[in-house]
Parts: sequence; C-alpha cells; structure tokens
Amino acid sequence: MASSKPGSGIRNPHRKASEGANALVFLTLLTCTLRCSEGTKASNIVLIVADDLDVELGGMTPMKKTTTLIGNAGVTFSNAYTVTPLCCPSRSSILSGRYPHNHMVHNNSLSGNCSSSDWQKGPESQAFPVYLSKQHYQTFYGGKYLNQYGVNEAGGVGHVPPGWDQWHALVGNSKYYNYTLSVNGKAEIHGDNYEKDYLTDLILNRSLTFLEDRSPLHPFFIMLCPPAPHSPWTAAPQYQKSFDDVKAPRDGSFNKPGKDKHWLLRQPVNPMLNSSIEYLDNAFRKRWQTLLSVDDMVEKLVNKLEAIQELNNTFIFFTSDNGYHTGQFSLPTDKRQLYEFDIRVPLLVRGPGIKPKQILQDPVVTIDLPLTILDIAGVNISALNMDGQSFLPQLTLSHGASSRSYFLVEYTGEGNVLEDPYCPKLGPGLANCFPDCVCEDAFNNTYACVRTLKGNNLQYCEFADNQSFVEVYNMTADPHQLENIVKKVDPALLQAMNQRLIKLQSCQGKSCQDIK
Ligand SMILES: *[C@@H]1O[C@H](CO)[C@@H](O)[C@H](O)[C@H]1NC(C)=O
Ligand SMILES: *[C@@H]1O[C@H](CO)[C@@H](O)[C@H](O)[C@H]1NC(C)=O
Ligand SMILES: *[C@@H]1O[C@H](CO)[C@@H](O)[C@H](O)[C@H]1NC(C)=O
Ligand SMILES: *[C@@H]1O[C@H](CO)[C@@H](O)[C@H](O)[C@H]1NC(C)=O
Ligand SMILES: *[C@@H]1O[C@H](CO)[C@@H](O)[C@H](O)[C@H]1NC(C)=O
Ligand SMILES: *[C@@H]1O[C@H](CO)[C@@H](O)[C@H](O)[C@H]1NC(C)=O
Repeated sequence: MASSKPGSGIRNPHRKASEGANALVFLTLLTCTLRCSEGTKASNIVLIVADDLDVELGGMTPMKKTTTLIGNAGVTFSNAYTVTPLCCPSRSSILSGRYPHNHMVHNNSLSGNCSSSDWQKGPESQAFPVYLSKQHYQTFYGGKYLNQYGVNEAGGVGHVPPGWDQWHALVGNSKYYNYTLSVNGKAEIHGDNYEKDYLTDLILNRSLTFLEDRSPLHPFFIMLCPPAPHSPWTAAPQYQKSFDDVKAPRDGSFNKPGKDKHWLLRQPVNPMLNSSIEYLDNAFRKRWQTLLSVDDMVEKLVNKLEAIQELNNTFIFFTSDNGYHTGQFSLPTDKRQLYEFDIRVPLLVRGPGIKPKQILQDPVVTIDLPLTILDIAGVNISALNMDGQSFLPQLTLSHGASSRSYFLVEYTGEGNVLEDPYCPKLGPGLANCFPDCVCEDAFNNTYACVRTLKGNNLQYCEFADNQSFVEVYNMTADPHQLENIVKKVDPALLQAMNQRLIKLQSCQGKSCQDIK
C-alpha cells in the first residue's frame, strides 16, 4: 500500500529522507527532472480515453489538434495495445492495472462482472484513483465508465467508486443525448439539446469548472471518457456534414476472406454485399465526425490549463479502450477480434520532462497506464497488486530499450443463449449478427494470444473452441495478418509460445512482467 504524507496537501517526493542522505541525493537526481520543476508539488495528470478509437484505420486522422497539442508536444507510441478488445473488460483493465483473468470482468454484462458488486468489492476498491486520492490528488471523472454502471442490481447511480472527488459518470453504454448521469451519486437526466446535453461537450465543461474550483495547493487528476467514436455515432450539429467524401480504407485485409482463420472468420459473405459496404462507409464517416468534438475537447482543455498556468506541470495521456474494424476480413463493423485493427490503440503523452516530437516503438499495453500514472504521482508502485509496468522511464528519459518484450491479449466471446434475432438460422451462441448472417462474435470466439515484439515479431493465439484452433502471424512479413502460418512454423517455436501463453494466462502482479 502506498504511504502518503498525512496532514499535507503538498506531496513531498523526498518523504523518505530519513532513509539516508545518499538515497536522498540519488532519488532527487532521479526524480528532479520530473518532479522538482515546481518546488515539491507533484505534477497534475489528465487521462482521456476515447471509446472504440482505432489507430490502424486512420482513427487519429481527424484529430489534428490532438496530434499537435499532445503528440507533437510529447511522445507518440507506435506500439500501444489493449489487453482485451472490448469496452467493459478493457476499461476494467485500465482502472485496475490487471489482465482480465485477474479482474474477472469477462464481458459487457453484469453476469460477466461488468460493474458488478464483486467488481466493486474487489478490483474497483484497489483501482488507481484510490491511490491518487491517498496522495492528496483532487480527482475528477467525466463520461462513460463501465457499460453496466448505474444498474440497480449493483448500487444504481448512488454507487460512486472510491477515489473520486467529482463524479459525472454516464449510466450504461455510450450515448450522446438522452442519457442519465450520476453526478456525485445523484441521477441527472439529459435530453437532446446540443447546447445543454451533448455529452462530449458537457464533460469537458464540467472538467473546466472543476479546474476553476480546484485548490492550488493540491495536484489534480482528470479522467475524461467521451462516448466518441462509439455508436450511435451522433455528431455535433456543426460536424454532421464533415468528411462527406471519406470512405473506409480499402487496403490491407479490407473485404478479404478469412479463409485460414478460425471458424467465425470463415463465415462472412465474401466479397461483401454492397449494402454492407455502404453501411460501413457511413459508420466510418460518422465516427470521424464525432471525433471532431473530442478534438475540440482536447484543445479547450489545453487552453484552460495554459490559462491557469498549469500546462507545464501537467501530464496528458490520450488513448482508447480498444481499436475497431470496418470491413477487415469482410466483417462489417465492430471490435472483439485478435487482429491488429482491434487490439492496437492510439497513445499520445505530453508532460513535464518529456521531449517533444518523439515517436517511441516501445511496446506498451493498457494495464501499464495506471502504474505509469501512479509512478508520476510518487506512489510506491512495487507494492501494488497490478499486472502492468510503468513506462515513465521511457517517457522522460527516452530510454530506447523498454523492459517489455511480450504481452498477453485475452478475450471471452459474447453470445446469445438463444438465436441471434438477425440470424436465427445459425442457432444459439452467436452475437452481433448483421441481416446477411455475418456475426461479429460467438461464445467460442474466446482466445488468448501472446505477442512478442523483440526478436521474433510474432503473434500466437489459441482458441478455447472444440478444435483448439491456433493462429500464428509473422508481423514483420505480414503486418495485415493475411496468412496464418501455424502449419509452417518450427514446432519447437510453437511449443515455446504455447508454454509462454500458459504462464501468462495465470500470471499475477510481477509474474506478468517480463521474464527474460
Ligand atoms: C510554468 O509556467 C509558469 C507560468 O508561466 C511559470 O511561472 C513556471 O516557472 C513554469 N514552470 C516551468 C517548470 O517551466
Ligand atoms: C466475478 O468476480 C468474482 C471476483 O471478483 C469472481 O469470484 C467471480 O467468479 C466472477 N464471475 C465470473 C462470471 O467470472
Ligand atoms: C431523445 O428522446 C426524445 C423523446 O423520447 C426523442 O424524441 C428524440 O428523438 C431523442 N433524441 C435522440 C437524439 O435520440
Ligand atoms: C459547454 O460550454 C460552452 C461554452 O460555455 C457552451 O457554449 C456549450 O453550450 C456548453 N455545452 C454543454 C453541453 O454544456
Ligand atoms: C456493387 O458495387 C459495385 C461497385 O460500386 C458495382 O460494380 C456492382 O454492380 C454493385 N453490385 C450490385 C449488386 O449492386
Ligand atoms: C457474460 O458472461 C457470463 C458469465 O460467464 C455469461 O453467463 C453471459 O452469458 C455472458 N454474456 C454474454 C452476452 O455473452
């Protein structure tokens, strides 16, 4: 557990001075570039998590201001991944710093532990905001939380997770209008008036008020989770005509058959129906339109931080819970798959001590975010029950070599116990089907992958289906994962990957981190 300095609003990075002068000098040297810039006050932190924002299909292209104000002002990670490509499990990982097998949130339903009382009693009570609060951070949450947040069976809107001073969380899944918020435990009902209700703008406005009302003695933490670019893709009125001529990218695996992949990927109609292509192009365009409001959010927040003279002491992280696909391997639109388009996420970071315009290839995963944030806040992260690792050294010291060389991606498929209403003929067990019986998920779309990025640039995945199907990709030779090379790979290598996967699937805390 982190030790915090009682009775003082100002975090003192040298609180362990009694441990000896040498240690103190060493600590000072190590942390000063980062934390001594404003006397002894710790840095402020902002974390923005978009919903379903890909990086593979050009999701950052409409985000011009964000790219300038965060990416160009700091670091762009070119190898950032989610540990699970679905909203609720992924967000639970970002909050808890744990792989899904350790936070036990397996899908978007209450019965799969999404915002369940078990989650609340367990991982949520040890999530990173709790430790920030103990460090006297003033904390603000705004936007989508977990898909089942606010349901009566798990405390309703009255449940405010520990660690948050200001809580403005969306009840349920992403919406832009006609939603309910829990405002510090009380329901607030919103309609569809753009000026009053548009969720992306509303959470920004509330965060600006929080900044105006903050105490200058304490650092602050703001987490903003806009609904964009998740469906229903409702753009702000001024952006509803933007990107008129934009279509989903046609390169890579777009409209290709998934013929050597597991059964779910062999089902889609190929080539896709024109109606499906029209649908996904429309979705692609609308996603970009909704992102323009997120881009405005970033600009207004940065301007405010500058106006209150806190910008140079604030770390800003911009990322997403998972990627997305529009037509890859002939799947119309969704996430949930093991491929790069669904598991890669954007990650941009600026802050004190971070040199501008850096592109870092060091692999980082979503469970590294809370540890990095707590590392910035001066928490003793080695004592925490989290599976990730801090990438603060890569950020501030530009250490070329990250300590991470592989990671786990794990996913539990969602299904309907009865037939999917759009495609009864396929029988039970499938989910998110389109009218032409292309389904995006199934109970046995349950898999675990180990991804290596040093030495062999490989992805090795095993399915929990009745074939124990295996997919292997050489990510250097075949970045679009067009060819499953499982039958060509040296069996010894397959066995080594299988062994590593087994270890990772039961790892916890330090045993999840790199084992050389
Ligand atoms: C940050 O900006 C403020 C106001 O412009 C200035 O007083 C302070 O010295 C700056 N701090 C650093 C570390 O540049
Ligand atoms: C939900 O989480 C609890 C622990 O927090 C665990 O005991 C339980 O098995 C989980 N439920 C499912 C369906 O995984
Ligand atoms: C919001 O709800 C009202 C009343 O049910 C409805 O008329 C309106 O179309 C809804 N607006 C949106 C954007 O869904
Ligand atoms: C947010 O604040 C701006 C500027 O005051 C205002 O124009 C806008 O209507 C507000 N939007 C929401 C949804 O509160
Ligand atoms: C589908 O679209 C393609 C390209 O736009 C066109 O050539 C083809 O005729 C269309 N097919 C149908 C059945 O409309
Ligand atoms: C979510 O997980 C629970 C527990 O494993 C399961 O009973 C439920 O059917 C799952 N929900 C969906 C939609 O797959």
